[in-house]
Parts: sequence; C-alpha cells; structure tokens
Amino acid sequence: MATPVPGTVAPRRCGAQAGGRTGGAAGSARRRDGGRLVPDAAGPRWTAQEDRHDRPDAHPPDPHRHPDPRRPVPHRRPDPRRPIPAAPSPGPAPLPLTAAQTPRLGRRALIHEHRVTLATPRRRYGPVARLLFVTMDLLYGRRGSLEKFMVLEVVARIPYRIWENAAYRALDRRHRDTGLAHRITERIVENREQQDNEQWHLLIIGELVAAQGGGRGRLRFGLLPWLMAVGYYHVAWLLFVLAPRASYRLNADFEDHAEHTYAEFVAAHPELEHLPHHSSFARRYGASGSVADLLRQIGHDERMHKLESERYLAAEPLR
Ligand SMILES: [Fe+2]
Ligand SMILES: [Fe+2]
Repeated sequence: MATPVPGTVAPRRCGAQAGGRTGGAAGSARRRDGGRLVPDAAGPRWTAQEDRHDRPDAHPPDPHRHPDPRRPVPHRRPDPRRPIPAAPSPGPAPLPLTAAQTPRLGRRALIHEHRVTLATPRRRYGPVARLLFVTMDLLYGRRGSLEKFMVLEVVARIPYRIWENAAYRALDRRHRDTGLAHRITERIVENREQQDNEQWHLLIIGELVAAQGGGRGRLRFGLLPWLMAVGYYHVAWLLFVLAPRASYRLNADFEDHAEHTYAEFVAAHPELEHLPHHSSFARRYGASGSVADLLRQIGHDERMHKLESERYLAAEPLR
C-alpha cells in the first residue's frame, strides 16, 4: 500500500477495487465495535450504515437525478414537437364574500340576470317597507324615474351605517370573545362595502340626473330626501335595537324593491339600450356600455344586498 504524501489525501478505494465491502484485504482490515463496522487504523473506512448512505463515493452523483447545485445547468432548447403541458386547473372560482365584491358583469350576463329578476316574484313586504314605498310614490310618482332612483339611493345607505356603528359598539364589549370578534369584524367590512356600493349608485345616478338637467328642486331633491333619510334612520335604528332581525327584514324588502324597480324601468325603456354611458366614477365603479347595462348592473348589486340581508336573518345575532 502506497504511503500518502503528507498534506495530500490518499485515494479511497471501494467495492471490487478494494476487494469488496465485506471480503478481501480491505474487509479483513475492519473490526467490529458493538455490532457496527468502524474505520480501522489503515485508512478511512466507513461503518455499514455509512457505506449504504453517507459515504461520498458510495453513490457517484447522478447529474440527472441529483444535480450538483454548484454546476451550471445546461441550457436545453425546448422541443417544438412536444405538446405544452396544460396548466393545472385552478378549480371553481370562489363565490364573492360580500355584495361590494360582486364582479361587474358582462353584457350577456347582465341581460340574463335582468330576465331572472323580472321572472322572480317580489318578497312580501312588511308594513314599514310598504309605508316607505307609498310615501316615495306619492312624492316622486308611481312610475320609475332616474330622479326617484336618486332619492332611493340617498336612503339606501342608512341601514348599513347603523349596522356598522352597532358592530363597532359590540366589538368594544365583546372583543375578548375571539370567535365572536372575528364575525363582528367581518360584518363591519361587509357593511362598509355595502355603504360604498350604495354611494357609487347615488353618485352615478346623480350624474345622469344632472346630465338631463333634473334634480334641481330644493324641496323635492334637497329637503324632502333629507327628511326621509332622518326619519328612516330613526325607524331603522329603533328596529335594530329592539329586534335586529326586523331591521334585516326591512332592508331585504327595500333591496328587493330596488332590484325590481330598476329591472322594470330598463324593460319599459328600450331606448336606454342605445344611450351610451360615460361617468367620472367609472374607474372606481366600472364602466358600462349603455345606460341600460348600467341600471342592470345596479339592479344586480341590489339583489346581492338583498341576499346578504337574508343571510343576516338566518345567522346568529352578533351580541
Ligand atoms: Fe343602490
Ligand atoms: Fe342596495
């Protein structure tokens, strides 16, 4: 056996070159210690365990299965004849969590949802909702109009503001109950989004009314909507304090009425299909090709609001 030069590493031999792992001269040089083979003084040898797995030269590196990270990866041209593997399917799209997350629908979907609304019967409205609708009809006419919709949108945000404030107060009291606190914070986010959604409705309809030269009467479009909003606020607040479910039911009635009113207005005015819509709020709310599609989209938002109020009706109270 050649004596290694000091400062260099003697070449290791293994396998048949060394006479086999368990036989030959190398195998006879090993000794046993507690059932394990250990290196002997003749040179670096390995335990049986190390021979199988850890010994660096026991398994020469396979450049394909175990590429050395220090080696540059050779560039291979893609074979144009090989089909491109399909991307993994993302699965069904998650349902929107809140009304404000409702995606803006395309024209075909808007027309479809418009027909669905027209074919769906209205809810059975409660006495408070009916009183509100009769008052609106007396002040702004039974038939739908953009000016009437503008006043409706002034009132529409009020319940969400009441619910959001109540949720914040509930959080002050119940923040130590982690599970309940999560549900309350989710409700706060939803109520904010619903308010914002109604706010865009108000601003966009107000734009349309102003473009037609309407909405200028101080009494009809200034004082009366304000009085209605104040009265509706107190009724909705009292209902929520005494019986939250009655407040949710009232809002579901209100949103159902709005959804059907918009749908019937679009159906009664086919000329709106050819009236292009331009809005300074389009970047925030989304653009529509025509006024008809804009009102269909708003009607669909109202349906989402109704469904959320109905979901609140079925959920446990946040108290
Ligand atoms: Fe609205
Ligand atoms: Fe709404």
